[in-house]
Amino acid sequence: MTARLQGRSALVTGSTDGLGVAIAQALAAEGAHVIVTGRNVEGGKRTVGSIEQAGGRATFIAADLGRGAAAIRELAHAAGEAAGGDLDILVNNAALLIDPAPTAEVEEELIDQALRVNVKAAFLLTGLIAPEMAARGSGSVINMGSINGLFGSAHSALYSATKATVHSLTKSWAAEYGPAGVRVNTVAPGPTLTEKISGIQDRLASMIAAMPSRRASTPAEVAAAVVFLASDDASNIHGATLSVDGGRAAI
Ligand SMILES: NC(=O)c1ccc[n+]([C@@H]2O[C@H](COP(=O)([O-])OP(=O)(O)OC[C@H]3O[C@@H](n4cnc5c(N)ncnc54)[C@H](OP(=O)(O)O)[C@@H]3O)[C@@H](O)[C@H]2O)c1
Repeated sequence: MTARLQGRSALVTGSTDGLGVAIAQALAAEGAHVIVTGRNVEGGKRTVGSIEQAGGRATFIAADLGRGAAAIRELAHAAGEAAGGDLDILVNNAALLIDPAPTAEVEEELIDQALRVNVKAAFLLTGLIAPEMAARGSGSVINMGSINGLFGSAHSALYSATKATVHSLTKSWAAEYGPAGVRVNTVAPGPTLTEKISGIQDRLASMIAAMPSRRASTPAEVAAAVVFLASDDASNIHGATLSVDGGRAAI
């Protein structure tokens, strides 16, 4: 364990599964007290257990980000309390991954749910936590974007739109909170080998063929980018998009 984030606290949404687990583990390995959250209690306990086993500090708070402002206020409050008052790092990572489908076949309920979880939750959570960081004069917000937010992709309009919005929010929040010392940045992964993504080998193969590195990222590689942006190593980086996509966005 190194100590780039010793004494800091971090809230990582969507850390019960997938990439968020690796992000929570990596932040904790640098000394941060990590607040793990999501709906799945078993998943949350697993993430906390893995962090504690490695000698780190984590607390699980169950929350459904699709349930609107009251639930999100509750999460922000409970996370602040668990962190002993101050949250130094917020990672807006939770999202609904959406199976490809023609636009005309996407149901209204799915559109609403995707906007609620991928956009509205991050918007409300940041609106609750970033002003407190600003009042203290420091903090780091990291939004999980995607290469899908950077260019068009047939049958992925809904997911891509939510991710493009996240990229836009990063820039607006960098402008809004940066002058008060809060850095807001995006990590934009390409295909990353979580359990879920590893299960779609056919789609993965064509995505990987278009990547200069010719391989998907590991969750640890994406988590390392988050740790970098959360740490003082990124002390004058505001409003940036850090792609972890084997070069896909560059071509
Ligand atoms: N994996 C990739 O290849 C890839 C590529 C580019 C970008 N990304 C981005 O990386 C982030 C993580 O993706 P992932 O692949 O790790 O996805 P994942 O394996 O599906 O995990 C999603 C996480 O979000 C949480 N979540 C979903 N709906 C929620 C809700 N209503 N309330 C609270 N939490 C909720 C889930 O927790 P619960 O089920 O416990 O609620 C889970 O922890 C996302 O922002 C995604 O867009 C991933």
